[in-house]
Amino acid sequence: MSAALNAVSTIHSAPPQAFEIRPFSGAVGAEIVGLDLSRPVNADDFQRIHRAHLDHHVLVFREQRISPDQQIAFSRRFGELQIHVLKQFLLQGHPEILIVSNIVEDGRNIGLGDAGKFWHSDLSYKELPSLGSMLHAQELPSEGGDTLFADMHKAWDAVPQALRDVVQGRSAAHSYTARYAETKFEGNWRPTLTAEQLAQVNEVVHPIVRTHPENGRKALFVSEGFTTRIVGLPEDESRDVLQQLYALSVLDHHLYRHRWQPHDLVFWDNRSLIHLATGCPAHLRRKLYRTTIQGDAPF
Ligand code: SIN
Repeated sequence: MSAALNAVSTIHSAPPQAFEIRPFSGAVGAEIVGLDLSRPVNADDFQRIHRAHLDHHVLVFREQRISPDQQIAFSRRFGELQIHVLKQFLLQGHPEILIVSNIVEDGRNIGLGDAGKFWHSDLSYKELPSLGSMLHAQELPSEGGDTLFADMHKAWDAVPQALRDVVQGRSAAHSYTARYAETKFEGNWRPTLTAEQLAQVNEVVHPIVRTHPENGRKALFVSEGFTTRIVGLPEDESRDVLQQLYALSVLDHHLYRHRWQPHDLVFWDNRSLIHLATGCPAHLRRKLYRTTIQGDAPF
């Protein structure tokens, strides 16, 4: 039997796993307890996870002692994986994994140290932005290092009618380089992009309000990290409207703060959420492995 056929039959014949989905009490998120992603996940269990991802937008899988190959294989069940433009920070032998880390070894940053320092939806600067991302904890600091998530369905619901009238039917531009040069945070993590890398991140335009392709709900789709302007509005009006949208996105009751525990794997929906890395003291080591699943063109 070929490796691919073998994998399919394993998925179908694998025994069910007894796991619980425990929704958090706040805006979004649920904890998955008792599932072992180092074992095969059968089709029924996978459906439960998929449904929970759509309902809760961010899933926290506790105690996952999985290898990079296992993270990649589980991620692939949700779709094609995207390779990050900063090739310097891809895990050797596993280009599907972006290393998110502030660790410097032999004078070299081993990963992207300031990933997520502005609110963003992963890869919104691509024609096909990300469906979702998985982040697996490798090394955690003793202080700080939380990740915040904000519900963009709730954000859209919070937009007052007068502002809806301005943004409905309009698009905004997204660019990977929008904040690239800013040195708001400690450390100079950002290598100069080569011409080849720049060609991979040309500005794209997406609707400001998108419809989630699987749950059908509307969500705001702009973020301070990658959105540069609203198409067709004068610069100052565009800036002002975006600031209002950003403020409505991150109201306290739209947020979930993830406090990392060892071996957590967190899987969020980039079509429903934006997220922010809150940072940790520079002398404390933090390392996580990220896989990024490609989504559809926003509509
Ligand atoms: C990211 O934006 O993907 C990284 C988030 C984090 O490091 O907490």
